[in-house]
Amino acid sequence: MVGTPIRDAIYALRKARLGLERRRLDYGRETRERADRMADVLPASADELRGYEREYDDLEWFHDAYADRVAEIHEAGVATDTTHWRDGVTIYVVCRALGVETAVETGVLFGSFDAHILAAMERNGGGTLHAVDLPGGPPGPFEYGHLIPDRCRDRWELHRGDAREVLPDLLEAVGPVDLFLHDSDHRLPHMRFEYETALPHLASGGVLASHDVRLSGLFDRFTDANGLGSCVVCDTGIARIPASENTY
Ligand SMILES: C[S@@+](CC[C@H](N)C(=O)[O-])C[C@H]1O[C@@H](n2cnc3c(N)ncnc32)[C@H](O)[C@@H]1O
Repeated sequence: MVGTPIRDAIYALRKARLGLERRRLDYGRETRERADRMADVLPASADELRGYEREYDDLEWFHDAYADRVAEIHEAGVATDTTHWRDGVTIYVVCRALGVETAVETGVLFGSFDAHILAAMERNGGGTLHAVDLPGGPPGPFEYGHLIPDRCRDRWELHRGDAREVLPDLLEAVGPVDLFLHDSDHRLPHMRFEYETALPHLASGGVLASHDVRLSGLFDRFTDANGLGSCVVCDTGIARIPASENTY
């Protein structure tokens, strides 16, 4: 068993290497290829997925509300680990393509991913996002999920606690999950714990998604070992279990 200080040092090294890799990554190309890559995993054509990207571009109510909240966070001078909106678009497209009704996410912070999932649920006409983050709150004078527009807040349920403690009972309680998204503690044992805990609770054809998959080969190894088709766009991994696999 590797001790915590050594694990933390390994994680710090991985993060530094990821920083370098992100500087080299061509994000323009990543987003241009999003629909083609996702069409290999999701039950929709690249043209349909591009349609959801265009739909997102046209969501004026969302962009207005989101931009105002981003400005408030910047004005408060809060350093953030907020997930980039281009990863939010990837998850928006997943939620629209699958018609996601039940989603579980770990790691809320200001709620960039949450806002995108909830915007898609608003377009879908239903759904609930269960979001897990530690007790306390984000830095600065804000609450978790500050970026979520008021218009789609009623579909959001925040569960405070360590994902290790909260997830097993939560996943059991909410039943088959159409989308599980990891974006909390990116140290490998925790990521593995979340992937392994979520997998049996995914609905047939459901998606396991994870942010920061470029930190290590874990996401690829896990999805390969479990027979999930997968792709990576920008910094987010998307994997889908075969439609007949889970008994839900
Ligand atoms: C990278 S931020 C999440 C960014 C967010 N998903 C977004 O869309 O902007 C990581 C978050 O994970 C939370 N976190 C870290 N360890 C956790 C754990 N063990 N259980 C639950 N949340 C955790 C932190 O409190 C922090 O808010």
